[in-house]
Amino acid sequence: MLPTFIRETTDRTEKGDFLALDLGGTNLRVFRVRLTEEEQKKPKLDIEQWPISKKIKEGTGEQLFDHIVDRLIEFLDSQNLKGQTLPLGFSFSFPCEQKQIDQSILLCWSKDFNCSGVEGEDVVKLLKEAIHRRGSYDIGSVAMVNDTVSTMMSCGYWDRSCEIGMIIGTGTNACYMEKMKNVEYMDGEDGLMCINTEWGGFGDDGSLEDILTEFDKGVDNTFENRGEHIFEKMISGMYLGEIVRLVLIKLTEEKLLFKGEAFAALLTPGKFETRFISEIEEPDSGLENAQQILAKLNLKWDLVDARVVRLVCDTISSHSACLFAAALATIANRIRLNRELDYLKTAVGVDGTVYKSHPTFRNKLQKAVPTLAPKCDIKFLESDESSGVGAAMAMAVLQRLAQ
Ligand code: GLC
Repeated sequence: MLPTFIRETTDRTEKGDFLALDLGGTNLRVFRVRLTEEEQKKPKLDIEQWPISKKIKEGTGEQLFDHIVDRLIEFLDSQNLKGQTLPLGFSFSFPCEQKQIDQSILLCWSKDFNCSGVEGEDVVKLLKEAIHRRGSYDIGSVAMVNDTVSTMMSCGYWDRSCEIGMIIGTGTNACYMEKMKNVEYMDGEDGLMCINTEWGGFGDDGSLEDILTEFDKGVDNTFENRGEHIFEKMISGMYLGEIVRLVLIKLTEEKLLFKGEAFAALLTPGKFETRFISEIEEPDSGLENAQQILAKLNLKWDLVDARVVRLVCDTISSHSACLFAAALATIANRIRLNRELDYLKTAVGVDGTVYKSHPTFRNKLQKAVPTLAPKCDIKFLESDESSGVGAAMAMAVLQRLAQ
């Protein structure tokens, strides 16, 4: 996806004023990122974000890109940047075939997006066409990256041992630096290449059949892209609430919860939100939070029910964290074996709401990884607003190299 030279030359001498767009989760976000030459200085950030409605997610591609450009223009106005042509980093978090840094074909939508007329098309071209339709703004050069890559870029800015980027949010995915000679699609043997694994799609060929639970299968049936992104549906933020809800229904049917009475909230898809899991697992206030959430959902609960719900949340988030650990360990082991090392020291840049907001998720994950990759020492890194900052950094490096 990105040849070594881009990542390895992020030497913190990049400077300039950049725009970045981030599309791929719950919100559309627009950034202005100012990089200064001074080492150790954090980039200066201005950010605005807007939730993406169901209507936009299911409308036409034209509507989606018009919406993005309208927000971008609004942002430029608010920053007094009207009339200026700033280079743009675009963090677009869906499976793409990246032909060039500014040419990327959407293979298929994920995470409940389903805009017509975009699959099979060059996303940068669609963005540029929308800008021309608006006529009032001219776009500069564009660098498009996946959010895993922007996370790796932005964490790698501070710690150069970072060679894996991982997202644990609405969706999930990871990228890592692979030896060029192992990249079949590309000519050339030297150096490294960044590979976007799209591991959310692991299992789409049936390879996870042995470990899929009835709840995983139930969640898959609820979404339109049935049979796709199976691993993502087992572990990521968009789906964890649904998994918990299905477990609670089963326990109710078995008369182990809510005196066996399944209430409307329990039977409605989407009613048990993933953020509830984080709130219910809070170490000190979790039980109280569970009671408030169950009351708000109009369920008739007693204290034992609240404790059981807490236990279910803990079980499901631990299950997810262990599967993340397995996937990350696999990548680290692969890097170690590729390099013929007895022991690998490396770092992973991580972003995403589940990782950042769940009270115990990162501990669960970090505890499980060494068991699965005993010959790898993996440091976990985080950076603020990594999707936007990393996309701007990719653009900054490209620009410096071009100069
Ligand atoms: C989905 C997308 C992938 C993205 C991930 C995290 O799995 O297909 O490209 O990186 O979500 O946002």
